[in-house]
Amino acid sequence: MKFSLAPTLVLLVLLLLYQHHSSPSNLNSNVLSSIFVDATFIVAPSPSPSMSMEFSIAASSNFTLTSSPQNKEKTKKNRIEEGLAKSRAAIREAVRLKKFASDIKVEETFIPRGAVYRNAYAFHQSHIEMEKRFKVWVYREGETPLVHMGPMNNIYGIEGQFVDEMERGMSPFAASHPEEAHAFLLPVSIANVVHYLYRPLVTYSREQLHKVFLDYVNVVAHKYPYWNRSLGADHFFVSCHDWAPDVSGSNPEQLKNLIRVLCNANTSEGFIPQRDVSIPEINIPRGYLGPPRLSNSSGHDRPILAFFAGGSHGYIRKILLQHWKDKDEEVQVHEYLAKRKDYFKLMAKARFCLCPSGYEVASPRVVAAINLGCVPVIISDHYSLPFSDVLDWTMFTIHVPSEKIPEIKTILKNVSWRRYRVLQRRVLQVQRHFVLNRPSQPFDMLRMLLHSVWLRRLNLRLPL
Ligand SMILES: *[C@@H]1O[C@H](CO)[C@@H](O)[C@H](O)[C@H]1NC(C)=O
Ligand SMILES: *[C@@H]1O[C@H](CO)[C@@H](O)[C@H](O)[C@H]1NC(C)=O
Ligand SMILES: *[C@@H]1O[C@H](CO)[C@@H](O)[C@H](O)[C@H]1NC(C)=O
Ligand SMILES: *[C@@H]1O[C@H](CO)[C@@H](O)[C@H](O)[C@H]1NC(C)=O
Ligand SMILES: *[C@@H]1O[C@H](CO)[C@@H](O)[C@H](O)[C@H]1NC(C)=O
Repeated sequence: MKFSLAPTLVLLVLLLLYQHHSSPSNLNSNVLSSIFVDATFIVAPSPSPSMSMEFSIAASSNFTLTSSPQNKEKTKKNRIEEGLAKSRAAIREAVRLKKFASDIKVEETFIPRGAVYRNAYAFHQSHIEMEKRFKVWVYREGETPLVHMGPMNNIYGIEGQFVDEMERGMSPFAASHPEEAHAFLLPVSIANVVHYLYRPLVTYSREQLHKVFLDYVNVVAHKYPYWNRSLGADHFFVSCHDWAPDVSGSNPEQLKNLIRVLCNANTSEGFIPQRDVSIPEINIPRGYLGPPRLSNSSGHDRPILAFFAGGSHGYIRKILLQHWKDKDEEVQVHEYLAKRKDYFKLMAKARFCLCPSGYEVASPRVVAAINLGCVPVIISDHYSLPFSDVLDWTMFTIHVPSEKIPEIKTILKNVSWRRYRVLQRRVLQVQRHFVLNRPSQPFDMLRMLLHSVWLRRLNLRLPL
């Protein structure tokens, strides 16, 4: 198999976003090639074919590729790569000129300003380019409930919402033909695969779950040329389930380029920030699209210094509860909240909202805190924070590693009023990126998810 990535393009766009406040001269090829050496996008020869079709997923669609002549296909691919090249150039130019494009085709005229962005110019331009061009092909193979649908509510809800948005929402990003697509979505719901196929009463083995995922990849890789063309590097799936890293990681060689869009972005569990995408966990109650947005009020109307209520899940929560449970007036940490107390109202009355990892690194509290104008205190180890290509989390949150949990009060007391007000204002600034809309809107959570995949696609050039 002939496959080449253009080394100078690899990680270019991520680099553009990361070079916050630095001069354009940093963009010389030395920097790029030295980053390329470390890059995870280096694609090796084709994976060993260990095709187990035993549990094959039936193709429910009668979609067939029109067998177009070689050169016609080439032209289409050419056009896609040319479009991407234009987008890269436009992003580079916006960074060089430090300018926000004025000919915005996007309806929304939001301008991302301020320190919360690693590089606001690059982000703005790249979002515009995405709105102009990005097309995603959603594979039609497979049947519900394992494929083409996912949970729409509760903490895995983003899984169902995203697939629903792409497949039923008349999304402008949904390609009408795979030949026009920049990226390919495997619409498998890991939450549903676990829900319907995991049989702990019979066996704790997750083998069956691994097989379903791999079989889906094998089905589309056999049927269409797209997976083999990039060895999966322009393919992605979205899952918020705790086990998604495991279920999608059973065959490291075959799946090593696949973009895994995950809530459970634990870097010591194989999450690779340059390849994978970290998305926020959001608790979606029935009838709503997220946590309530009760208050944007400033620190003066927030009498509680810090607030947390939640179960003792995982080692970080254990330490937190051990040190702080019902012990302090100012740092309010509860395992259970009295029925008459309103959880979200309390968060809206707190200056800082403690967001410790539970069984997994991600917590829906981060999105709730941001929506309630409460400065998140991220208590975690090895957590790659959502949308970190674009957002600089150090600018609007406090991070506390697990070993510093005993010092929480000292750390928070040490934040001056002045600094607090800056942090809180920035939390309000990033709110729009943590709001779920259906249909999605520019710069909202679903668009940020798509934009993260778009960035990874921009870093890739397929052979013509
Ligand atoms: C199969 O093709 C027919 C005719 O083109 C179409 O109406 C139908 O929706 C297709 N079925 C699926 C599952 O795509
Ligand atoms: C993709 O590669 C695999 C393994 O080499 C092969 O079995 C499969 O037939 C290929 N798919 C296509 C569409 O050629
Ligand atoms: C908080 O501000 C955002 C925009 O900055 C707005 O959409 C939202 O409605 C506000 N919430 C409240 C409760 O005022
Ligand atoms: C992250 O992964 C490591 C390694 O598997 C594990 O020990 C740790 O508990 C995980 N963190 C959380 C919060 O789950
Ligand atoms: C307190 O804040 C100052 C300046 O903001 C910082 O240099 C110092 O390290 C902080 N101390 C603690 C214990 O967090």
